[in-house]
Amino acid sequence: MQDIQNDERQALVERPDQRGAAAEARVSGLEGRHVLVTGASTGIGRATAAMLARRGAKVFLVARNEPRLKQATAAIAGEGGAVACAAADVADRSGLIESIDAAERHFGAIDGLFANAGTGGKFAPLGEYDDEVFESVLRTNLSSVFWAMKRILPGMISRKRGSILVTGSLASERGMANNAAYVASKHGVLGLARAAAIEAAPHNVRVNCVLPGLIETPMLMQLDPNAAPQKLRDLLGKGVPMGRIGTAEELAQLACFLLSDLASHITAQSIAVDGGILGTHTTR
Ligand SMILES: NC(=O)c1ccc[n+]([C@@H]2O[C@H](COP(=O)([O-])OP(=O)(O)OC[C@H]3O[C@@H](n4cnc5c(N)ncnc54)[C@H](OP(=O)(O)O)[C@@H]3O)[C@@H](O)[C@H]2O)c1
Repeated sequence: MQDIQNDERQALVERPDQRGAAAEARVSGLEGRHVLVTGASTGIGRATAAMLARRGAKVFLVARNEPRLKQATAAIAGEGGAVACAAADVADRSGLIESIDAAERHFGAIDGLFANAGTGGKFAPLGEYDDEVFESVLRTNLSSVFWAMKRILPGMISRKRGSILVTGSLASERGMANNAAYVASKHGVLGLARAAAIEAAPHNVRVNCVLPGLIETPMLMQLDPNAAPQKLRDLLGKGVPMGRIGTAEELAQLACFLLSDLASHITAQSIAVDGGILGTHTTR
């Protein structure tokens, strides 16, 4: 890694507000990279998109709700990030592909994909699980990742450069009662990431999977929308060996690393950000 040039060093001394961002971009392994992030308007996707932009990447944001998406985009632009967006439902194949086309028109070839959009579905015993909800969770959490990879991976392979990251869950590794569609979809997305990783590995393209544990996002807090946020944090934190739930920024740190060149020999991995949950022994 090249050292910061003298004039640049001097500029940073004179403008300390710029020092953090410029230095961070130089060592991030992300500078100038074009990364598309799905589920980028809130939670994990938004925190990761903002961190990627602070580290010098050009980020393209995708989610359904346009006002929320534009608000997230404006916030990143307001911090000086290179950012653009397109509203799309990833469960709609043509809408998803159009958003990828739009990203390429805007920023050029895609070097990084964070396929993160996801839905929890509904809680119900398997015998009563609604067929349509099952299909819809699978389309959102699994088929969409396949469609995005199918569209983006060949270009990465031909350019011999790229990193794909998918968002799994502890439900990628463990069973869970009354949540059949989510568990099946998150097991599937880990399998898809591993299959793609082995196929892409000879071409210098990496594919990994992050497994969030209990991360404070709208999705997690909606588990009990009537609870006071601090009460819910405390309650959920009791089940975590580290004694607290995680933040979206803690997940974003890993996501940025895996999407960057700093992780250049890491592929086909699933890594949890869960405060130790996956390492515990459960008796039931
Ligand atoms: N938070 C946790 O503890 C946790 C744990 C395990 C796994 N995860 C996984 O982490 C990922 C991100 O979730 P989060 O916790 O950050 O939740 P979140 O804050 O609710 O964010 C979900 C994001 O995905 C977007 N989205 C949802 N459905 C979409 C669709 N069909 N098409 C396009 N965008 C869609 C949402 O925006 P719109 O609604 O506007 O589309 C939003 O930007 C998910 O895959 C989730 O399964 C989270």
